Amino acid sequence: MKFFIDTANLAQIKEANDLGVLDGVTTNPSLMAKEGIKGEANILKHYEAICELVDGPISAEVLSTEFNSIIEEGKKLAAIHPNIVVKVPMIKDGVKALKWFTDNGIKTNCTLVFSAGQAILAAKAGASFVSPFIGRIDDSGWDGVELIAQIAQIYSVQGFKTEILAASIRTPLHIIKCAEAGADVCTCPLDSILGLLKHPLTDIGLAKFLEDAKKM
Ligand code: E4P
Repeated sequence: MKFFIDTANLAQIKEANDLGVLDGVTTNPSLMAKEGIKGEANILKHYEAICELVDGPISAEVLSTEFNSIIEEGKKLAAIHPNIVVKVPMIKDGVKALKWFTDNGIKTNCTLVFSAGQAILAAKAGASFVSPFIGRIDDSGWDGVELIAQIAQIYSVQGFKTEILAASIRTPLHIIKCAEAGADVCTCPLDSILGLLKHPLTDIGLAKFLEDAKKM
């Protein structure tokens, strides 16, 4: 399973990348706004900076919702760097755009996916990645990880090549459960990635080893 970091914060991206286990980055308009990135030129420059930091797929989301504008915006994003993946929302014009990008050799990530039916449509349109939003599904009283397992089963039976990118990850347990359920990628906040490191017995064991090492 691949690890992407889900942020537009350059310091956090660098920290995760320095760990040596990072495979890519996802962003969305909320994450870009959180970093105070405003205006087209700055947005494009910020994606460029991310591409310089990490050598892997970098999802950049379109803001348009109408087919022609999605295509124009997606082409501009894709021109930034060969690693850019154009992130397109799961709407009717989005599905049409996914197919257009697929036919024109541009990688895509279908975002805002909350059902197996939507995941089937994304795969049929040739999306490179499909992003089911685990945490937001859990927030609404459903089981996000169950959706990952269902999509993994469907994609395997049908031979779909689209990678399942578990998004809206909130905890280290989400990552573990998504790995079990068959996600190809987990995109996570830095805290959840670092949370995987933690176990009290590791800390206790290390303290004891270091103490005993003084007697060596
Ligand atoms: C990433 O691709 C998604 O946009 C992101 O994981 C959504 O996360 P959130 O539900 O925590 O906003």
